[in-house]
Amino acid sequence: NRISMIGVPLQYGADRIGVDMGPNAIRGSNVQARLESLGYQIHDLGDIHVNRTIEPYQTGEKLKYLKEIISVNSQLCEKVSAEMGKGNFPLVLGGDHSIAIGTIKGVLQHVSRLGVIWFDAHTDVNTHETTFSGNIHGMSLAVALGFGHPDLVAIGGLEAKLRPENVVIIGARSIDRGERTFLKEQGIRVFTMHDIDRFGMKQVMEEALAIVTNGTDGVHLSLDLDGMDPNEAPGVGTPVSGGLSYRESHFAMEMLYERDCLVSAEFVEVNPMLDQNNKTANTAVELIGSVFGERIL
Ligand code: ARG
Ligand code: MN
Ligand code: MN
Ligand code: MN
Repeated sequence: NRISMIGVPLQYGADRIGVDMGPNAIRGSNVQARLESLGYQIHDLGDIHVNRTIEPYQTGEKLKYLKEIISVNSQLCEKVSAEMGKGNFPLVLGGDHSIAIGTIKGVLQHVSRLGVIWFDAHTDVNTHETTFSGNIHGMSLAVALGFGHPDLVAIGGLEAKLRPENVVIIGARSIDRGERTFLKEQGIRVFTMHDIDRFGMKQVMEEALAIVTNGTDGVHLSLDLDGMDPNEAPGVGTPVSGGLSYRESHFAMEMLYERDCLVSAEFVEVNPMLDQNNKTANTAVELIGSVFGERIL
């Protein structure tokens, strides 16, 4: 029950300022005290260093800020791997969703057969070939599966990759054309908002948990706050209407805790500059509480 908290104040993957303040907003919402009251021992390792004085990306460059994103994710990968090596649970606070590359590749150093639950309005499976925006936060899941720019895929070694059959996406409602093709080709299970409307979160989570625990040695939770409805989580850079409700998200976290399969987690895309009274950072901390065992009664 030792948790190592790692902040990653990265914004280059989203190309929108403010999300770099996410880790401190989450800390400011008392995540440490909340987890301590649940009986965990928390080490806040501070933030991964992000260079603030880099050149703006050049128009015509396909991937924005590639070099700095590689540097930050390589550092993150090493830090996550070192903490897992000490038997600590890595809890990574973003930052834009490109940091999933470093987190997941770090976890894969220790748990090579890893399941992933990806909560998101998007599916983040673009590559340098399919992206419309050039924003690397829309590519991180593809990279973790071994697809995309070779310098991103190489982080943590080429063997560090997920298998498509061990990954599920929950809450999706904005999927680019190239991503659809990729998801079909790879056979990745996507529970869209339509599925949640139709079957309810309970059945969706039961199926999702069955998939990610089947033949794996642990599960990583990658939670993009824009998976929630923008009314619940307004402080995100790429909001999409029609998202997960407050209770649906909590119930999913509670089911994850009951299943007792997580080895690592990350909460990303909290942007305090777009937030209303810290609502999104607070919501992130409440979800963190639920996934670590907080109960209503
Ligand atoms: N699909 C869009 C893109 O590739 C949006 C991605 C948003 N990703 C995120 N992690 N918020 O640019
Ligand atoms: Mn300490
Ligand atoms: Mn998203
Ligand atoms: Mn995302």
